[in-house]
Amino acid sequence: MRQHKLALCAEHYLDWIPEQTERFIKKYAMFDRDEKILVAVSGGKDSLSLWDILVRLGYRADGLYLALGIDAGIGYSRESRRLTEKFAVERNLTLHVADIEATYGKSIPALAEISRRGQGRPCSVCGLVKRHEMNRIARDLGYDVLATGHNLDDEAAVLFANTLAWSEEYLLRQGPVLLGSDGLARKVKPLCRFYEREMTAYAIARGIEYIYEECPFADGSQSIFYKETLNRLETARPGAKLTFYLNFLEARRSGNLFIDRNTAQIQLHPCPNCGQATSAPGLCSFCRMIEKTKNSP
Ligand code: AMP
Ligand code: FES
Ligand code: ZN
Repeated sequence: MRQHKLALCAEHYLDWIPEQTERFIKKYAMFDRDEKILVAVSGGKDSLSLWDILVRLGYRADGLYLALGIDAGIGYSRESRRLTEKFAVERNLTLHVADIEATYGKSIPALAEISRRGQGRPCSVCGLVKRHEMNRIARDLGYDVLATGHNLDDEAAVLFANTLAWSEEYLLRQGPVLLGSDGLARKVKPLCRFYEREMTAYAIARGIEYIYEECPFADGSQSIFYKETLNRLETARPGAKLTFYLNFLEARRSGNLFIDRNTAQIQLHPCPNCGQATSAPGLCSFCRMIEKTKNSP
């Protein structure tokens, strides 16, 4: 790990990652051992490793898998579900599975096509549905905290995009913890300081079976472009990605971001249909999208 000037053998690495995760959980006051945690698991290396780590650290963590119905070609959803269920069964863990098509009558690609959100890419509808369903299920099942497997590469790419666009609202909200409100669980990202390759190394050294393929719709996405750009920077200047993210968190904490908090703070109100907080007038974007697709075959 050039950025830390540290080299570890597999045995010590498998201790080091959970120890660091515990440090981050405490540093950012993510949760404690009395709280009920729901880990959103996609079947990928990050979220399965996160679940593994939290259980090893003695936290009360159950899993949630969202079946998105993205099955053209390699059967991405089917295979990621199989691996997630296998992981849970082998470790005797509780996994909730929510099937989007069973609940809303249509898979993600079908919802995207009918609603015409996202210019032909299902990713924007997919993000909207995942966010909404994670919030809804965490609340309905009485979890205190919702944990996702976002790593440093994910977070730095989002930060990069938001900085290029100077999206003040998003810059104010992005971070390792998003406090809960109005019946919404707190959201946390305990892996946000680990490089993607560090998480790959952990999953492999730990012998976790995960889905190697990316979602087939990710190809050519903006987030992959930003990740590649940041990787070039990282190769030339090891540690650049981590510094970019940590200095952002520090600048925001100390009030040194050039952002007018008053104008950037958006007014939220509960959606009259589902109750989740929204800035849209009337129904939230999710409920509007579902309304729009309801009467289509
Ligand atoms: P992504 O949005 O695909 O970059 O994934 C970010 C995080 O969202 C993952 O680390 C998981 O915690 C969660 N996630 C993504 N897809 C799913 C899914 N199908 N079911 C449950 N959680 C998911
Ligand atoms: Fe949602 Fe790819 S995972 S569109
Ligand atoms: Zn709603």
